[in-house]
Amino acid sequence: MNGRRVLLGVTGGIAAYKAAALASRLVQAGAILDVVMTRDARRFVGAATFAALSRRPVHTSLWERTAEIPHIALARESDVVAIVPATANTIAKFALGLADDLLSNVVLATRAPLVIAPAMNTAMLEHAATRAHLETLRARGATIVEPGIGFLAEREHGAGRLADEDVLLAAIEGVLQRTRDLVGERVLITAGPTREALDPVRFLSNAATGTQGIELAREALARGAAVDLVLGPTSLEPPAGANTVRVATAREMDAAVRERARDATIAIATAAVADWRPATTHAHKVKKSDEAAPLELERNPDILAGLGAAKDGLFLVGFAAETEAFEVNARAKLRRKQLDAIAVNDVGDQRGFGAGPNALVLLWGADGRKDLGRGSKRELAARLWDAILELKRAGSA
Ligand SMILES: Cc1cc2nc3c(=O)[nH]c(=O)nc-3n(C[C@H](O)[C@H](O)[C@H](O)COP(=O)(O)O)c2cc1C
Repeated sequence: MNGRRVLLGVTGGIAAYKAAALASRLVQAGAILDVVMTRDARRFVGAATFAALSRRPVHTSLWERTAEIPHIALARESDVVAIVPATANTIAKFALGLADDLLSNVVLATRAPLVIAPAMNTAMLEHAATRAHLETLRARGATIVEPGIGFLAEREHGAGRLADEDVLLAAIEGVLQRTRDLVGERVLITAGPTREALDPVRFLSNAATGTQGIELAREALARGAAVDLVLGPTSLEPPAGANTVRVATAREMDAAVRERARDATIAIATAAVADWRPATTHAHKVKKSDEAAPLELERNPDILAGLGAAKDGLFLVGFAAETEAFEVNARAKLRRKQLDAIAVNDVGDQRGFGAGPNALVLLWGADGRKDLGRGSKRELAARLWDAILELKRAGSA
């Protein structure tokens, strides 16, 4: 954990005292530890304990040092956020996205992975509300370290006891390792639509926004990759750490991709490239009175097939947006374009476009298939990277 930034969130349960022992282990393992305590956590353990263990100030209020906007600074700097113990109350707040104290604001503002270790009375843990909130958080990508069965503070034996220190430490380490598993990779991602001009004010394009590709780039950066992002016209902001090249047409995207593919170890083509462009781009706006229908089309270059034909060690992943027979069509594309894998989404009825949720299935080889399920594009980006790395490692083993 040398030098990694761990944010430990301590909430108001009896097991709060156990978070002190975990804090000590994290520091011994080399982590730079920031501790955020809720008001009720401090009824159980004093902030001084954590300050002494971490040798850093403990954060307890949204309203301290407001000039630094503490929740945003902490959210940005952390490599992982671990909530130990997590009360039923705090879990409910996270699931709902409430932000009424420092810890809930940090959790809402961070892009770091979240580890949650619930600890509570058995009935509270088994309550439908708590189960539903934990499921929501799990579906969003949080790692839930399930509590064990044992002696509880109310002198009963049951489920709800905070997981053991070693289990908690291993979970945090596991998440941190996963977050650096793209170190050494140079990733090339295409995203967004392309735009093919008919005249100075009209163009052919499509409904892609680039969201999924941008999330893949963001996740790759967080996991330690160097990222080249070739981005078609979109109003979305690319992640700051990526080398972003903005292009408009398929031919511009093709040239930008060819130039960067030589250095890439993994390429993911999420861009919705226009297959056709107007044969003529008129210098002036085409008039209603012009005689001939102005739209004669010609083929654009097939960027993905070009990459496939010249890939030389590059691990190449395509995307297929299909509205029918989607696995059959995607498998044909996988073979035809010499891809290592293809992520398929069903885009019937505008599904899959923009900021809404997505659903992906990854296909490879003759019959390899992994359903990545449904989720936000950010969650799917993380799952897709896990699957790509697993495949790439299996291929090179
Ligand atoms: C003695 C005592 C022990 C408690 N233990 C727990 C517990 O283990 N888990 C839990 O979820 N809530 C527990 N609670 C309830 C929480 O302290 C309460 O829900 C509080 O609002 C949590 O605030 P926080 O989530 O902001 O830290 C306990 C309350 C008391 C008085």
